[in-house]
Amino acid sequence: MKNVVTVDPQSPDPQAIKRAAKILRDGGLVAFPTETVYGLGAHALDPQAVRKIFAAKERPEWDPLIVHVCDMNMVIPLMKRVSPQFELIVSRFWPGPLTVVVEKAPLVPDEVTARRPTVALRMPWHPVAAALLNATALPIAAPSANRFGRPSPTRAEHVVEDLGDRVDLILDAGSTPMGVESTVLDLTQFPPVILRPGAVSREELEAILGEVPLATTVANESVPGGWDGPGMTVKHYAPRATVEVCASDEELRVRADDLRSQGKQVGFLTVTDDIVRLAHTLFSQFRSLDAQGVDVILCVLPEPQGLGLAVRDRLLRAAGKGGRNE
Ligand code: TXA
Ligand code: MG
Repeated sequence: MKNVVTVDPQSPDPQAIKRAAKILRDGGLVAFPTETVYGLGAHALDPQAVRKIFAAKERPEWDPLIVHVCDMNMVIPLMKRVSPQFELIVSRFWPGPLTVVVEKAPLVPDEVTARRPTVALRMPWHPVAAALLNATALPIAAPSANRFGRPSPTRAEHVVEDLGDRVDLILDAGSTPMGVESTVLDLTQFPPVILRPGAVSREELEAILGEVPLATTVANESVPGGWDGPGMTVKHYAPRATVEVCASDEELRVRADDLRSQGKQVGFLTVTDDIVRLAHTLFSQFRSLDAQGVDVILCVLPEPQGLGLAVRDRLLRAAGKGGRNE
């Protein structure tokens, strides 16, 4: 594709970065890798550019975006105030896969925050994302670069599949290192609340902050379908196939036989004990099982520890059992 440029994930070609930065400054859309998933970026302070993100993703306008930054000078004007807690958290976790929700400054357009008084902020460490932010010298609003409701993209091919020529340029740096999205931590509540479990574990946060509760939509894994406030819907991260979660290997085997006897094509998520590996491949496994045309994807849920909490959350969302929407 003519809008895909391959770059080295560690030291991206400055010319490619310059080209991408110009597109962003001019109000266009650039998909770029972060350490979690690929993002679909636009100039965060340009409402018209931000609207293009919603159009390309077919994302409902009530779902707010994360604003990406590369240094403190860039982030401070976006916030109403800088709290000691914010300083503590970012000194430990930035750059990295942690998004914080804080009260916004008037500078941040309503289009970015879906008219909320708060803004979600994140400083990624991926060298391509960092280089792009540096070259653009502007905050970049970027949701995951998938079509709304589809699994997040962990490879440039996934972005092409979902968004194709709706994006002006795709920086292809291969597969993203972590594979699940950033942890979203709400700093407007005390103690802070995890709105979305992600690549920074609850245990890592609690080592610094003491007990960090999960939002009820995350904690209550059996919530029935339907709306649960702005930004929340149940079914998400979903492949086209139906996802079913099983409590044990034994239950999975029985269910697989049962489905096959009904003439269904069954696919399995490879769930190993290596949770880092599973997180890394989760969304691409969804996509490749879809490409194989399976009817049902079966998996055993990992334990809710470390990265397991995020993986478990994504699996339950995909299965339509509880969740936040993106
Ligand atoms: O890893 C990631 O976070 C990736 C990369 C590209 O940075 N981005 C990502 O963005 O996953 P997205 O839009 O797919 O998910 C952002 C989540 C959504 O659930 C959204 O509702 C929530 O963050 N969010 C954004 N702004 C918020 C706010 N002001 N208050 C509460 N939640 C917010
Ligand atoms: Mg998303």
